[in-house]
Amino acid sequence: MSSLQDLDKALVECLIGELNLVEIRDTLISVAQAAGEMMLNADPSVDTSETKKNSSDRVTATDKAVEAMVKACLTTAYPDFEFLGEESFKVGQKLSDAPTFVCDPIDGTLNFIHGFPNTAVSLALTVGKKPVVGVVFNPFRRELYTAIKGQGAFLQKPNGTVYRLPIRQNPDPLTGLNGCLVAVEWGSERSGPNWDLRTNTTRKLMSAKSAGGAMCHSIRSSGSAALDFCYVAAGQMDLFWEGGCWIWDICAGWIILEEAGGLVASANPGGWDPSLEGRLYLAVRGAPSGQKKVVEELWSCMEGKEFVFAH
Ligand code: IPD
Repeated sequence: MSSLQDLDKALVECLIGELNLVEIRDTLISVAQAAGEMMLNADPSVDTSETKKNSSDRVTATDKAVEAMVKACLTTAYPDFEFLGEESFKVGQKLSDAPTFVCDPIDGTLNFIHGFPNTAVSLALTVGKKPVVGVVFNPFRRELYTAIKGQGAFLQKPNGTVYRLPIRQNPDPLTGLNGCLVAVEWGSERSGPNWDLRTNTTRKLMSAKSAGGAMCHSIRSSGSAALDFCYVAAGQMDLFWEGGCWIWDICAGWIILEEAGGLVASANPGGWDPSLEGRLYLAVRGAPSGQKKVVEELWSCMEGKEFVFAH
């Protein structure tokens, strides 16, 4: 590492040291709970959705109202921090090194529209373009995931029980895709090379060894990348692979996973140090060994192909 990078790192550490991360986490929890109330009170039969890019990429009035509420609360409480949110994002907007709140008001909007109860508000704070606090709250199941850098990751269940993640504190080693439950999401881009790669790789992951596949235990698609990260952090799923989702989908989940001993690689082969904004993520649960081996095995299922996104 160059001395300039060392200096940058020291400055970021210094900035983090000046922040009260516990207070910020607690603020994010309060705001997430208020967002959860708005989601629970929205009447999906009245809350019609609009299309964004195509019929599978949607936004509801509740997405917009939740983000407006989150933004108002956080910019009032922390006026010097920046804000990056899914619904107010402008093409070209980039994360800076300054403390920045990253918000997905409703991750799993399609689930929300259909009334499928796997959807969450996802809130994070980044410093130096890395997440340092994460809160993901699914109000329909009243499950709250939280993490602060260096202080562990936690899941609070509706009965108040709090688990330090992963739920099994001594997880098994990862011995290969053959023993893995893998989360894959489909996104809204349903044709072209990225779609071919997504479907071909999924087919390879699922197929029998005798058919040249990895014969993973099975594939799950929960419809929320934020919750997929949390399920991997909890150790309830082994991997989550997606190219195409955005920083707000995964930012809070990323720190929750890291604090649970997990690893984030790129969805594309060879990327061991993915960026938050890169739209390429492969999340792996905490394990005493075998994390890198399953990453390489999944990359090999992509047969030399890569996702390509314009921005
Ligand atoms: C989507 C969900 C989905 C993923 C998409 C995301 P949204 O987020 O996380 O699981 O496949 O790529 O865009 O639109 O519901 O906030």
